[in-house]
Parts: sequence; structure tokens; C-alpha cells
Amino acid sequence: MPKYIINGGKKLIGEIQIQGAKNAVLPLLAAALLTDEAVTIRNCPNLVDVNNMIRIISALGARVVRTGDIIQITSDGLFAHEIPKHQAKELRSSVFLLGSVLGRMKKAKVAYPGGCDIGLRPIDLHLKALLELNVRIVEKYGYINCDASNMIPTALTLDYPSVGATENVMLLAAISNGVTALANAAREPEIVDLQNFLNSMGAKISGAGTSYIRIEGVKHLKGADYTAMPDRIVAGTYLIATAICGGCVDLVNVEPGHLQSLLSKLMKSGCDIDIKANKISITSNGNIQAFGIVETQPYPGYPTDLQAQLTALATVANGTTIISENIFENRYKFVPELNKMGAQVMVKGKFAFVTGVSKLTGAETYAMDLRGGAALVLAGLNAEQTTVVHDIHHIERGYEELDVVLKKLGCDIIRL
Ligand code: EPZ
Repeated sequence: MPKYIINGGKKLIGEIQIQGAKNAVLPLLAAALLTDEAVTIRNCPNLVDVNNMIRIISALGARVVRTGDIIQITSDGLFAHEIPKHQAKELRSSVFLLGSVLGRMKKAKVAYPGGCDIGLRPIDLHLKALLELNVRIVEKYGYINCDASNMIPTALTLDYPSVGATENVMLLAAISNGVTALANAAREPEIVDLQNFLNSMGAKISGAGTSYIRIEGVKHLKGADYTAMPDRIVAGTYLIATAICGGCVDLVNVEPGHLQSLLSKLMKSGCDIDIKANKISITSNGNIQAFGIVETQPYPGYPTDLQAQLTALATVANGTTIISENIFENRYKFVPELNKMGAQVMVKGKFAFVTGVSKLTGAETYAMDLRGGAALVLAGLNAEQTTVVHDIHHIERGYEELDVVLKKLGCDIIRL
């Protein structure tokens, strides 16, 4: 099984390009099924999750050609509306296909995606929204059978600003005969990217990025050529990597506005940050002040997907940090692995109490989920001697060539 071997203590120096956003490209690929014309999506990262989504839409009948970071999709030959169980299990994000397959085929059969490493991941909010749009749903034998032939656009409110549920409503309502008004919508930048993509296909959607999204249904969507947004979580991970090691790094092809909540924390903790149009420069002497209380929240609050990485940074900060993970119920599995490296973190329910130490020490560690695994790599970059991070398949779901990028910045890391 592949692993990372890291000899810590190196400073990070240099410039890196940030990959396209996994959590934007996945719904964009689902949205491409809404038209029978050719669609081109650029800035697509080469990741396991993206390639799994390509496999699923190909199995539905779409023709997909990938050339580097460009994916071309033509689904004029779409013939299936069922997402098999093993594929739904392998890729939770296949749940977005509910909205787009329903929007195109008017019926869909998706296996329950089930939980994952970080929580139960129910889809009740998705199903409640579809029911309010008069989609007929029959749940049987672990499958969700949906019929949208009598879908009725309406005004509806999500009980919680779920990213996936917001995306499913947008995907279903884009082709319809009326106006759908979604309140308490998720405000993540990936939702804005989906709106912009759908509108480039001829949809009439407004309000993404706010809690209120208006979708005026159209009869038909056309092909498009679209560039996905940069990955704000990957960018945030490299910013925190620079803070934990010390150094001076320029991140290009980023949207600084997507990272306000992290940037303000890093500045307060002693990092120098310079922001330009699509570039963030960070300088750190590695001497980090603790963060006080950090609460993960829906966007624009502090992102849950950067919680583990900031927790790793807090383990070597001066003072105490209290993390409150308010989004997912099982997002501290990396903590025992951090504590093997000399970190002092105590978890109690949704809280992690972190007492900073001067240095971590290398250890054999095991990644258990995507962002927790990335946090172990960051800790290894700081630690004395050698850290091994096993089960890196979790990490490679979301980070394109993490070892290559870090090596380019001066880290001593190899992938075996
Ligand atoms: C998206 O997941 C992201 N994934 C997650 O990134 C991210 O952590 C999350 O949004 C929050 O920002 C993709 O975009 C592919 P939610 P999603 O629906 O849509 C609960 C990563 O590391 N909930 O906003 O599943 C849910 O259990 C991944 O890249 C329900 O209870 O997130 C969670 O506690 C991890 N019922 C909370 O809401 C539902 O029907 C937020 O979930 C749906 C969600």
C-alpha cells in the first residue's frame, strides 16, 4: 500500500499552482448530463473521486474524453438512469447525480450512498427537497427510486444549508416549467461555480453565494466550455503547511476571497499574508500564536474541510486552541495519530483542546480520511526525524501529487 515518508524540519520556499476544485468539478460533471450537446470542463484535477465520477457518468451512457485537465462530455446517448450500489458507495458525491439524472431523464435510481469516514452523511435534506418539488420517491432494497415526470417548481426552504442538497435542487430545477425559489441555501463558492456553469449552458439561475437562490426553469440546456474554480481547501492546506514549517510561498491560481476565514486566522497567528488578484503570498517564521476558539461553520465561516489541518498547526502553536467541529460528527479520527507524534490534543465530543508544544517527533501514522490524512502530512513536515503516513489513498482522493508539490517547495518527502 502506498505511503509517504517525511523527514521534517525543512522550510517551504517557492511558488505553486493550485489545482482545480474537486468539490466544484464533481457537481459540474453531474450537470453536464443535463444537455445532449458537447460540454468541456477545464481545470479538472486528476483525482480518484473525479475519475470515479467519470466512470459513473460513462456507465450511464455519456461519452467522456479526458485530455490532461480538460474533460469533454457528450451525453446525447444517455440511456440509463440507475447508479449501481457499488458505485454509490465508492463515491458519495454520486448523490448529486440524483438531481441531474432526474432533470434529464425524469427518473433516477440511486443506491443509498451510506456513511463515510467522517460521519453518517444522511441525505434526508436532499429527499425532503425533492418531495417538496413533487418528485415521487420510493425507497426499497437500499435504493432510492425517483420519478420527476410531475415535478412542480415551488418555493422551499432547507432545514440546514446543505451543499449537496442545494446542488441537487439547482440541478433538478434548471430544466423545468416554472420558478423554484430555494431559501436557506448553502453559500459555498462551489455553489456559485455550479450556477455560473449552468447559466453558461442557458439556465436562468441567480442568487448563488447567498442564502436565497432563484431558479427559473428552461426547456433545454445547450453545451458549454467552462473553467472550474481553484480548490480553496487545497490552497488552505498549503498555506497551513507554510505556517507549520516556516518559509515563504506564493500560491497562484487561487481566489483569496474564498479563504478569508483562514487568512484572518493565519495573520492573527503571526504569518505575513500578501493578497493579489489570483495570488496569495505567505511568509512565516514558524513561530505561531495559538488560535483561541475555532468554530467550523457553513461558508463563509471557518470550513470544516480545513479543521484537521488547523488542528495540526495548533499542536505546535504558542498557547491553547479550542476547536469546535460543528459540521460532521466524526472528524477527529486523526487526533490519536497526531498524539503519537507528541501532540497534546484532548477530544471531548465536538471539542478538541489543543495545548501547543515546541516540536513534534516523527512516528508511524495512519490516514483515516481525506483531510485528517492531510493533517498528518503537515505534522510530519514539522516533526523531527521521520514520519511515515500509511493509507495515503484517502489523501489522494483530494490532493493531486501532494508529494511532488511539497518536494518542489523544499520538503523531504517521498511516496513509496
Ligand atoms: C460537501 O459535502 C463537501 N463535499 C464536503 O467536503 C464538505 O465538508 C461539506 O460539503 C461541507 O462544506 C463535496 O462537495 C463533494 P453538507 P456535503 O450536505 O454536500 C448533514 C471534502 O473533504 N446533512 O453541507 O455532503 C451532514 O451529515 C468533503 O472534500 C444531513 O444531515 O455536505 C453534515 O453533518 C468532506 N442531511 C452537514 O449536514 C442531508 O441530507 C453538512 O453536510 C445532508 C447533509
